[in-house]
Amino acid sequence: MNETTQRLNVHLAAAQPSATYRMIDRVAERRASGAPVISLNAGEPDFDTPTHVRQAAIDAINDGHTRYTQVAGLRALREAIAAKFRVENGIDTRWQDTLVCSGGKQVIYNALAATLNAGDEVIVPAPYWVSYPEMVQLCGAKAVVVACSESSGFKLTPQALADAVTPRTRWLILNSPSNPTGAVYTAEELQALAEVLLCQPHVLVLSDDIYEHLIFDGAHFATMAQAEPRMRERTLTMNGVSKAYAMTGWRIGFATGPAWLLQAMEKLQGQQTSGACSISQHAALAALTGPQDFVECTRAVFERRRDAVATRLNRIRGLRCAKPAGAFYAFASCEGLIGRRSAAGRLLTSDEDVALAMLDEKGVAVMPGSAFGLGPYLRIAYAMDEASLDKACTAIQEFADSTS
Ligand SMILES: Cc1ncc(COP(=O)(O)O)c(C=O)c1O
Repeated sequence: MNETTQRLNVHLAAAQPSATYRMIDRVAERRASGAPVISLNAGEPDFDTPTHVRQAAIDAINDGHTRYTQVAGLRALREAIAAKFRVENGIDTRWQDTLVCSGGKQVIYNALAATLNAGDEVIVPAPYWVSYPEMVQLCGAKAVVVACSESSGFKLTPQALADAVTPRTRWLILNSPSNPTGAVYTAEELQALAEVLLCQPHVLVLSDDIYEHLIFDGAHFATMAQAEPRMRERTLTMNGVSKAYAMTGWRIGFATGPAWLLQAMEKLQGQQTSGACSISQHAALAALTGPQDFVECTRAVFERRRDAVATRLNRIRGLRCAKPAGAFYAFASCEGLIGRRSAAGRLLTSDEDVALAMLDEKGVAVMPGSAFGLGPYLRIAYAMDEASLDKACTAIQEFADSTS
C-alpha cells in the first residue's frame, strides 16, 4: 500500500477505476496524437435532447426556477414519475413513493449506500454494467458475481440465483434491457426468479430499467414489481430520462419502491446533493409529460442499426453475435480470434488484447467483455449514425481478416 492509498477511504482504495474510462483514456491518447478513432464505446444516444425539453429548461431558468427544490424532487415531477410507473409499468404507486436523484446512477448508489453494511452480499449477474460491483465495493459490501452464459441468453437462471443466495444476501441487481448484452428478461423469466426470492424474504431487488424503451422485435418490457406483485414491497424500480430522451448530461434518474427505503435514500441525498438540479427537473417533467414520439422514433433507429450491425458482425471470421433484444449494445464473442496474431504480430490471448490491437492497428475502439465480467467478448455500442457504423464494421472485418 503506497502513501496515497493509505490516505484514502479503504473501500475507495480497493475499488477499480471504471474499465470503461480506461479505454476512453486510451482513445483520448490516440486522438491527441493525431490518429483517427471510430469509437464504439459510447454509453449514450447520439441524438440531441428533444426541442421541447430544451425549451422547458430555458423557460425554467427564465421563470426563476433556479433554487433548491425539495430533496426528493419537485412535486410535479414526482407526480409525473408516479403516473409513468402506473401507466407504463402497471406499478400502482403514489408520488410520495417516488424519489428523484442526479441520474440513474445516483439512485443505485443511494440505495446501496443506504442499506449495505460490512459483510453484506449483493448478487450481480454477469455480464454486468461496470459500476455495480464497484458501487457495492464502495459501500463496504461484497459483490457476488454470477456468470450468465451465452447459452442462457446472458440471463440469470432460477437455479443460479438459488445457488448464490446466502443469509448475507441483501440485494439482487437486475438490468433489462442489459448493458452490455442487450438481453431482455420476459415477465415469465422474472416470475421464475421471483419464485426463488419469495422463499428468501431478506433479499431486495434492484431493477435497473434505464433502457426500458429500447426494446426490439415488438417485445414487451417487463419489470419485477409488475411481473410479480408479491415482490413489490422488496423491489426498488429504477429508471431515468438519460437513455429514453437522450438526456444523459441532464442527470435525472428516479425510482419507486418501499417507503422505508425511499426515505432512507432521501435522508442520504439530503446530506449529499440536497436534490437534483432544478432546471433538469423541469426538463425531465417536460420529457415525461410532453409528446412521446421521440422515444419511438429513436427506438426504431436503434433497431435498424442493431439489425445492420449484427448482420455485419456475424459475417466476420472469428466473431459471433446473437441478435441483442434491446438497449444499444451488441455483445459479440471473439473466441475465434483468441490464439491468433494480429497483422502487427501481437498474440491475441484475451478479449482485452483483441480490443487494444484493434484500436492500435485499425483505430476502432470497442470494450472487452471481460470489463463487464465475461470474456472473451467485445461490447460494441451502436449509438452512431449508420454510415459510421458501416465504416467501423469494415475496419473490424479488416482487422479480423488480417489475423493469422
Ligand atoms: C445499465 C445502466 N444503468 C444505469 C446507468 C446510469 O444512467 P444515468 O446516466 O441516468 O446515471 C447506465 C448508464 O450508462 C447504465 O448503462
